[in-house]
This record gives sequence, structure tokens and C-alpha cells, in this order.
Amino acid sequence: MNDALHLPQRPRRNRVSAAIRSMARETILHPGDFIQPVFVHDGTTDEPVDSMPGQQRWSLDGLVTFARTLADAGVSGIDLFGRIPSHLKTPMGEEATNPDGLIPQAIAAVKAAVPELAVMTDVALDPYTTTGQDGLVIGGEVVNDPTVAVLVQQALTHARAGADLIGPSDMMDGRVGEIRSALDAEGFTNVGIMSYTAKYASAYYGPFRGALDSAPAGGMGKETYQMDPANSREALRELDLDVAEGADMVMVKPAGPCLDIIARLADYSPVPVTAYQVSGEYLMIEAAAQSGWIDRDAVMMESLLGIKRAGASAILTYYALDAARRLQG
Ligand code: PBG
Repeated sequence: MNDALHLPQRPRRNRVSAAIRSMARETILHPGDFIQPVFVHDGTTDEPVDSMPGQQRWSLDGLVTFARTLADAGVSGIDLFGRIPSHLKTPMGEEATNPDGLIPQAIAAVKAAVPELAVMTDVALDPYTTTGQDGLVIGGEVVNDPTVAVLVQQALTHARAGADLIGPSDMMDGRVGEIRSALDAEGFTNVGIMSYTAKYASAYYGPFRGALDSAPAGGMGKETYQMDPANSREALRELDLDVAEGADMVMVKPAGPCLDIIARLADYSPVPVTAYQVSGEYLMIEAAAQSGWIDRDAVMMESLLGIKRAGASAILTYYALDAARRLQG
């Protein structure tokens, strides 16, 4: 290379002006990269989430207004999470498949008012079960195949209400294929699956469980189904399985602590890789910013840029609206 000519290496030439930096830039965030996770409850007013300052539990009316704001800011989608009142939680989580439940109502309301916004839904039982587990607990164990049968019904309930994307976050084996077959059998061939493919048993989910009152009961963790944060190889195995079972997009979660996993899957995945910047990642930035220790907006944008640079084509983030607005200027 130039070394042979004894020319000095000057990488700074590509940073010399805004115009040159613009030519050299590899990663650019767009509002359409973002999906906003939203919490909805059965109340008639919006209420702040104590465990996640800056986030709301929306009433159905509030949700529709927020959805319009998101779409106008160029955000591509929302992911709906319901805070189920404790009197509707049961050991087997029957409310998860109620066609008149909170989430089906929320899906229908958003699709009627803001049809251009993609509506994604969470398929897992934790907000609905008294155990707080994503699956059915039988004999002290989260059982796989009986859970998948319920998840299939939950996914169909969401598709019938108008969901665009099903997001199975439960980490049961074989659920993507079963959900795909059931959707196709009912003619929902255009309803996609964004699978939680590499979902780790992460401490970063704590604030989210406060938002939904969905923390696991009795000290039982989720390590028998969510992945061990020590591992990378099994993310590839989960990717192969989810793609073979018909996943349209595969997600890595959490995002910031798993940039290596995003990059590894992105190198190899035949379908788009997405990432979920979770509640604890959001809260760490918020807390540091509230203490005056960091520049909130700059850190917010850099955290998202890093996730995209790692290989994510879309990002679920509680910053979706704020980041989109910043990009719009
Ligand atoms: C439910 C679910 C969780 C999150 C998304 N879907 C919590 C969990 O698995 O315990 C976490 C999202 C966040 O922390 O922002 N299965």
C-alpha cells in the first residue's frame, strides 16, 4: 500500500469537514427504523409508569392519539403490551386468548385510526398468568408443548383483531412453526412473525415488569427458556430454527449488551435482524441524564446508532418517538 511509497497515513482526511464526513458515513438512522413499545391498560386515563419515568400506560383513547403522533413522526410501528388487572390473571392465563380482551381492542382501535402504522403484538403469557411466567407452569416446570398450543391461539386472536406482526417473546421451542401454520390455515398469509430469536435471561427487563405488574412470582426465574447471557453459539441455532419455521424477521434482545450477537446473526441471517433496546437500557440512560451526568439526547442517538451499525435493520426502543423527532429536526 502507501507504506511502500513512504507516504504518511492520514485517516483524519476523511473527517476533515462536515461534507467529507457525510461522504464517509456508513450508518444513518431513519425514523422508519424504529418501533415503539407501548403499554396499554383498561383505565380511562393515561398514567405514568413509576418504574419507567417518561413512559405511560395508555388508555385506549390515549393510545390512538399517541399512535397518530408516532406515525406523523415517521415511526414505522408499535409493539403493544397490556397491563392486565390482577383479577383477570389466572394460573393458566386464559385472558391471553380472550377475543374481547385489552390487546385485541387496542389492535383494532389503532388499525382503525392509524392504518399506516404497523401493529406488532407480544405473544407470551407472562402478563396473564399469576406465576408471571411466559408459559404454563405444570408440576413446578414451564411446560413447552402445552404452552405452544395456547400461544397459537393467542397469536390467532391478535391476527383476527388486525395485527400486522406477531412477536413471540416466550422462547418456547417450536412456536414459530406452529404459529405460522395456524396463521396460514386461517388465511393470514400476510401477517408476519418477528420472532424473539435470541432472547436472553436478562436483568435489564426489570423496569418493564414493573410497568406490567408481570414479575415472576415465588423467585422462579426464566433461565429454563430464555438464553444464558454467557452464550453466543446457541443464538445461531435459534436463528436456524426460527428461519426454518418461517420467521420473517429475527430479533436479538437486549440490544446494547448483545451487539456481538446482533453482528453475528446479521452476518449470516437470510432474513432481517432486529433488536430490542429494553427497559433497563432506556432507564440507565434516563437516570444518568436526570443526574446531569450525560447529554441525554446525544447518548440516546449514539446508543441507537451503535445498534444499527452492529447490523439491526429495525430497533424496538422506548426512544422511538424522541429519536424520530430529533432526526426530523
Ligand atoms: C414478555 C416480555 C418481556 C419483555 C418483552 N416481552 C419481559 C420478560 O421476558 O420478562 C421485556 C422488554 C423490556 O424490558 O423492555 N415475555
